[in-house]
Amino acid sequence: MRIHSYEKLWLAASMVLIVGFIATITYGAVGLGIEMIGEEDETVAPNEINDDERFGEPRVEQVGPNEYEVYVVAQTFIFQPDPIEIPANSRVTFYVTSRDVIHGFEVPGTNINSMVIPGQVSQLTVVFDEPGEYGLICTEYCGDFHHEMEGSIVVEPADEFDLTELSVEAPDTVRSGDEVELTATVRNGQLEELETTVVAEIGTETFQQDISVDGKAAENVSFTVNSDVLGEGEHDWSVTVDEYEEDGSVTVAANETNNGTVGGDSS
Ligand code: CUA
Repeated sequence: MRIHSYEKLWLAASMVLIVGFIATITYGAVGLGIEMIGEEDETVAPNEINDDERFGEPRVEQVGPNEYEVYVVAQTFIFQPDPIEIPANSRVTFYVTSRDVIHGFEVPGTNINSMVIPGQVSQLTVVFDEPGEYGLICTEYCGDFHHEMEGSIVVEPADEFDLTELSVEAPDTVRSGDEVELTATVRNGQLEELETTVVAEIGTETFQQDISVDGKAAENVSFTVNSDVLGEGEHDWSVTVDEYEEDGSVTVAANETNNGTVGGDSS
C-alpha cells in the first residue's frame, strides 16, 4: 500500500499533537506540585484549634537546619500570625486551617494559593529566594470584610533571621529602699544555640550580661538596683537583646515609715 506523502506528514503532525497534549496534562498534574487538600488526611476540628499543639499558638517553627514549619490560622478577617517572618532560601512548609468559614491563602505573584477549609489542614511547601515583604490575601468570599482580609509574609535574609523572643517582668511600683528587680526572659526558638548580650537600663544605671541560650529553650536574667540609687519618682527602664527591646517605667514611692501615714492624711 502506498501512503501519500502529505498524508504521512499529517499523521506525524497529529501524533506530535497528541503526545504534546498528554505531556501538558501530565506536567500540570504532577510537575507543578499541585496537590489536593486532604491528600494527607490532616484534620483539626475548628473548636479544638485553641488546644491544638500546632494551631493553638500560630507560629513559625524551625524543624531542621534549613527547614521551617508555619502554623497559620485563618479566621474572619485575619491571618495569624501576622506578619509571618521566615528566612530566605529555606524550605518552609505552611500548614493552614480555618477557625470558621472557608478562606483562601494566596501570595500574589507566586504559586502559593490554597483554599482553607474549616476542619482541614492545607499544606504548601515553598522556598523564597528573594528577601522582601510579600502580601497574603484571602481569595474565597468569607463575609462583609473579605476584601480587607490580608496578611503579610516577611522574608528576611538568612543571616539576619532568628526566632528570638524577649519578655520582661518588672514591678510598677516599689517602696523607697527596696530593690528594683527586672527579669528578662530570652526565648530561642531556633535549633542552634543563641549567643547574645542582654543590655538593661534602669534609670541611669546600665547593666550588661552575655548569655547563651540552648536551641528551643529559654534563659532568665535578672538585674537589680536599689531604689535609693534611683531616688523617688518615676524611672524608665529598657531591656535590649539584639534588635528586640522591651521598655516601661517603675515608680519609687516614698517609704511609709518616713512619711508617717499612721494618723496621717488618709481622709
Ligand atoms: Cu477570608 Cu475572604
